Amino acid sequence: MANSSSPTRTALKNSSFLDAALGRKPARAPVWIMRQAGRYLADYRRVRSLFPSFMDFCRSPEHVAEVTIQPVDQVGVDAAILFSDILVLLPPLGLQLEFKESRGPVIANPLRTDEAIAALPGGNLNAELEYVFEGIRRSKKALDQRVPLIGFAGGPFTVASYMVEGGSSKELARLKALMFSKPQVFAQLMSKLSTVTAEYLCEQIRQGVDAVTLMDSWAGYLSPDDYRDQVMPHTRNIVATVKKNFPSVPFIHYANGGPTLLPHVVALGVDVVGLDWRMPLAEAIRAFPNQTFQGNLDPCWLYAPPERIAAKVKEMKAVVGSRPHVFNLGHGILPDISPDHARAFVDAVHAD
Ligand code: CP3
Repeated sequence: MANSSSPTRTALKNSSFLDAALGRKPARAPVWIMRQAGRYLADYRRVRSLFPSFMDFCRSPEHVAEVTIQPVDQVGVDAAILFSDILVLLPPLGLQLEFKESRGPVIANPLRTDEAIAALPGGNLNAELEYVFEGIRRSKKALDQRVPLIGFAGGPFTVASYMVEGGSSKELARLKALMFSKPQVFAQLMSKLSTVTAEYLCEQIRQGVDAVTLMDSWAGYLSPDDYRDQVMPHTRNIVATVKKNFPSVPFIHYANGGPTLLPHVVALGVDVVGLDWRMPLAEAIRAFPNQTFQGNLDPCWLYAPPERIAAKVKEMKAVVGSRPHVFNLGHGILPDISPDHARAFVDAVHAD
């Protein structure tokens, strides 16, 4: 079984991301971009166009590896993130998922009853995710140790939102109604998702990813107290299981809309806390000087001319100083950003 001390991990040619993520001083400031394998790259759109269905694309390990490494070659990032989606867990959980052109994810049979939640499988669903693991093996091979590979999963609250709402939602009213009116049923759903997610992340590490990130994109819809009481215990279980099995594999947590949740997210004890773009970097560092952070340039800054992007990154670097930091945007890159501007961001992080 590959583990954190396997030779493949120590042979990386560029370990600046892993060094910073583990709180060590990197040779050079590292950067990657959330959603870096995506529509802003013409080569991504070319591969994407081979598949009418987004899920069929995700299920093709050969093409997954191809787009996973594109941003390494074309943008110069210090880590690759596996091309996949947080919602790949839904079909193994019995939910019918489709990505529709203008609406995003749509679930034909969302969870609408207590019985449906009670009937969900828990435990280990990895056998049905073999195509993801094959994508990891192929991506590692294609990367040829140039940079580390990041694996990921959705936070249980975020994944539950799609399962209960049936797709993207403005208010998460159904999910929050469940949470406040039937806390035990909500906890049962979260608990099953946490177990499945922890098993999934551990298997991604066994198959070769060098770091993992949990993306709780909709956690910011919760007040800090509700996050602490109803979500945090489940996230904590995921972190504990992964870190117990793989103590030296960096764990990154990203909560979108999460500035008010920051004290709780820091208390999760992850290696790296991802900041969304709303949070002033200097304030986060002042409040939690011993925490390594990731982020957090507003994705819309990449619409600015390259020289303004460079000046902004220089400001961020002055705030970060000599502490370990993982540079990134404060949410995913937008589909109409010019790849030249993405490169300007990466180059500015790498500049002295
Ligand atoms: O970061 C990467 O480059 C790796 C790939 C990745 C994708 N989705 C590919 C994708 C990752 C890490 C995700 C995570 C994800 N997926 C999140 C959490 C991060 C975040 O952005 O907050 C969420 C909430 C999802 C769910 C999801 N997937 C939605 C709502 C949509 C539709 C909206 C959209 O952007 O089209 C997707 C589809 C999706 N996932 C695309 C990509 C590149 C676009 C679909 C396409 O190319 O046709």
